Amino acid sequence: MSFNLPDHSPLRRKDFLFGVATASFQVEGATEEDGRGESIWDRFCATPGKVLNGDNGMPACDHYHRWPADLDLIKELGFDAYRFSIAWPRIEPEPGVWNPAGFDFYDRLVDGMLERGLQPYATLYHWDLPQYLGERGGWVNRDTAYRFADYADKVTERLGDRVLGYATLNEPWCSAFLSYRLGIHAPGLKDDRLGFQAAHHLLLGHGLALPAMRRNAPKAQHGIVLNFTPAYPATDSADDRLAADYSDEENSHFYLQPLLTGEYPEAVRQRHPELMPTVYPGDMDILKRDIDFLGVNFYTRAVVKAGEGQDYEAVPQQAEETHIGWEIYPEALTELITGFKDRYANLPPIYITENGAADNTEVEQGEVNDSLRVAYYDRHLQAVQHAIEQGVDVRGYFAWSLMDNFEWAEGYSQRFGIVHVDYETQQRTPKASARAFSDWLSDRSGM
Ligand code: NOJ
Repeated sequence: MSFNLPDHSPLRRKDFLFGVATASFQVEGATEEDGRGESIWDRFCATPGKVLNGDNGMPACDHYHRWPADLDLIKELGFDAYRFSIAWPRIEPEPGVWNPAGFDFYDRLVDGMLERGLQPYATLYHWDLPQYLGERGGWVNRDTAYRFADYADKVTERLGDRVLGYATLNEPWCSAFLSYRLGIHAPGLKDDRLGFQAAHHLLLGHGLALPAMRRNAPKAQHGIVLNFTPAYPATDSADDRLAADYSDEENSHFYLQPLLTGEYPEAVRQRHPELMPTVYPGDMDILKRDIDFLGVNFYTRAVVKAGEGQDYEAVPQQAEETHIGWEIYPEALTELITGFKDRYANLPPIYITENGAADNTEVEQGEVNDSLRVAYYDRHLQAVQHAIEQGVDVRGYFAWSLMDNFEWAEGYSQRFGIVHVDYETQQRTPKASARAFSDWLSDRSGM
């Protein structure tokens, strides 16, 4: 079984990068080993009612100990690259205290990739903020942006050009809106204004970190990973179309536009001046610093209508969906990134840094027949191909995820891996989707 891409597909070219992705808190486990400090997610998990079934970061996939075998597997499946993230609380467990054992772990991990011919793509911040920073207000506190820049400096100084691609942040929309505005992720606050302020400080931290990252790793590519759930109008009415457009301004362009133009979108500034973050003189120039790539995380779309007393309101669809309940709508990926190309003259090259499906099919007689996931990948790879055919510069694609892992507020209930994890025994079982990738990867032409 492989994917149905035509012989001439640009995704067949050897220089189109294929990788798998994970994130520290979701896979590592070992939350109390080798001097790791507490993160806001450890605290959130320990707070009753926040995470499904009271799940936490233990044991996750025990990747902290099992990484050599996990890297072997990535290589065996034929992938080119591994996107992983660095746990800030391992590196700086207490303010200003830099933990040698934390650096050593990522040192070994990166060398392990290079020894196997896998290209390392590191994310510096995938949500596991040190708890001591959480206690000082987390991303609502402007100082956190400066602390992030220091941390990014230390990590890139150590790992340098051995890492091919550095992303400052993963999905700041989640770290800001989902965490401070919608209350679903740590620290679980519900305040519109705080959400926007956190967004600004995250983007500020990204911009502040870039100069040291470039100095420490001049040959690496430096960028950011954003998530997008493009909105479509529930009906053709002018009001619903406006609601969908506005949702995109607030949830997508609010994060992307300042990085490329140095301004938050006009539509949001006009409609909600009261929510706009406090911005210091010079901040927007810092946000706008050049990036070498944009990482795009895409899973689904939203369908919205004009809301009563709100700017937009989600309309549930009777449609094909994955097991987590997200609609499967691959065309939105093509339209999203072709739309970026049309809107932004200085759009950098794109990597699809995450795409995947929750398909909770279990092991039966040693096999996992995750046919929903195989079909999902097949259709989304085609969607990427269509975007490239329309002139979008897409350089690579990372499947989320290498293996089943801790799915944040959903705990271990949702499985996104192409490799199954038995959390009792830590046994890995490659699923049908892993085989599909492996067949596809071995069949690339090398054009
Ligand atoms: C986005 C996040 O980056 C990742 O941590 C998460 O597991 C996947 N999406 C699936 O929700």
